[in-house]
Amino acid sequence: MAAPLRFRLALVFSVFALLSLLARSSSQDLQIANAERRIDLTSHIIKVFLTLKVENTGASPASEILLAFPPTQVDHLAVVKAAATVGKRKKKTYQPLDVNPSEQPDSPNGTKYFSVSLLKSLGKGESVTLEVFYILTHSLEPFPVEISQSESQLVYYRDSAIILSPYAIKQQTTFIKTPSTNVESYTIVDPTNRAGKELKYGPYDEQPPYSYSPIVIHFENNNPFAVVEELVREVEISHWGSIQITEHYKLVHAGARHKGIFSRVEYQSRPSISGVSSFKHILARLPPRVHSVYYRDEIGNISSSHLRTNSWKSELEIEPRYPLFGGWKATFVIGYGVPLEDFLFESSDGRRYLNFTFGCPLVETIVDKLTVKVVLPEGSKEPSAVVPFPVEQHLETSYSYLDVVGRTVVVLEKKNVVPEHGVPFQVYYNFNPIFMLAEPFMLASVFFFFFMACVAYLHIDLSIRK
Ligand SMILES: *[C@@H]1O[C@H](CO)[C@@H](O)[C@H](O)[C@H]1NC(C)=O
Ligand SMILES: *[C@@H]1O[C@H](CO)[C@@H](O)[C@H](O)[C@H]1NC(C)=O
Ligand SMILES: *[C@@H]1O[C@H](CO)[C@@H](O)[C@H](O)[C@H]1NC(C)=O
Repeated sequence: MAAPLRFRLALVFSVFALLSLLARSSSQDLQIANAERRIDLTSHIIKVFLTLKVENTGASPASEILLAFPPTQVDHLAVVKAAATVGKRKKKTYQPLDVNPSEQPDSPNGTKYFSVSLLKSLGKGESVTLEVFYILTHSLEPFPVEISQSESQLVYYRDSAIILSPYAIKQQTTFIKTPSTNVESYTIVDPTNRAGKELKYGPYDEQPPYSYSPIVIHFENNNPFAVVEELVREVEISHWGSIQITEHYKLVHAGARHKGIFSRVEYQSRPSISGVSSFKHILARLPPRVHSVYYRDEIGNISSSHLRTNSWKSELEIEPRYPLFGGWKATFVIGYGVPLEDFLFESSDGRRYLNFTFGCPLVETIVDKLTVKVVLPEGSKEPSAVVPFPVEQHLETSYSYLDVVGRTVVVLEKKNVVPEHGVPFQVYYNFNPIFMLAEPFMLASVFFFFFMACVAYLHIDLSIRK
């Protein structure tokens, strides 16, 4: 009795072992025929475009392709997107593909992976061209770490000349774009060429899996390193009027720290060379048809901001009380209202929903921690949020004057937010129109009781005499 069972178990185990071996070998059978990488270092938000021609040289079909990142880069990854190219030349179209973090057994040197799911699995001898796009934040290290008002800002960027991949790459080239021709130094991994604002690494032939060749580039980057350490956006819906938005910013210049004293005279008289890495203005893109815009800090209203509006967009140019140098901070609040009908809709199943933009309205800005609070009208039920990327969600209750049961607040939180996260999201909820009457009823009853109190007061004889 025991012997056949043991035999059967052994059989099951060996089948498993065989299957996992097959799965492993299938991943080894992919190879990259050609890879081209373009790294854009012109801003402090680093954009990388990767074109991979992947071939299946094995016998079994492959349904996913792995992207590898060194552990130092993974923490700074804000976005990873992939698309498959369909058609040739002029008829080329892109099919977006799902990309998800993936755990792999025994990854060398702590390599982290993202897995790209193909729509149609790649058969034996077939190939597919992938366009991968990713964004790195906080990946430029200022050096020197402190600069004076008259100095330019220099930074280090570290990467590998050879693309990190679990697959062998037959041929590859990397192009790196710098903001100016001012490049102090760069690592040479032959062949390496520099022309104008571009550095070219490669072509490199026949690189085995997990090849890595560290490089450091030291260059000038005077772009405003605008980082919002914390942003809280409150979106309050009132069925009676408009949507009111209040945004609390903690902005910092994350570039090289300012050293010495700040001379406003020098700053104003020689703007082209004094404080080149500082910033005086910052632009906020607000929805069209905004009204009652204000901008204030802890001292009070700041009037030196300009609002330009047209039917497509509104732009608010914010000017803090002083220019921001490396390490300097500014805390401020922006508030505005938008028409209800532009952002509140009814879905086909009768629920109401808000369709608003996620992310940060400031251009070219990184947000370390973003909290979006959607304050629903009183009496709203069963809220649910739809956001096209993972966010942390929870519910809160807030009370404002005239509230009876309080308002449900949908709280969405995300770390490491970049302009690419400025896409529409929705919050659906059920609403009983009877609650529309709650506020007027409260107002009416307050007036009624006040009136009754007055009447009573006038009729009560408080005098002592008989
Ligand atoms: C891991 O890193 C070390 C040091 O950087 C390097 O020598 C080694 O080749 C790497 N191992 C693999 C498997 O990539
Ligand atoms: C600031 O501006 C807002 C909107 O224009 C206004 O309602 C408020 O009274 C102002 N506050 C002060 C202190 O000036
Ligand atoms: C939300 O608004 C955007 C444009 O502002 C529109 O493209 C999108 O279809 C809307 N989504 C829903 C679910 O209404």
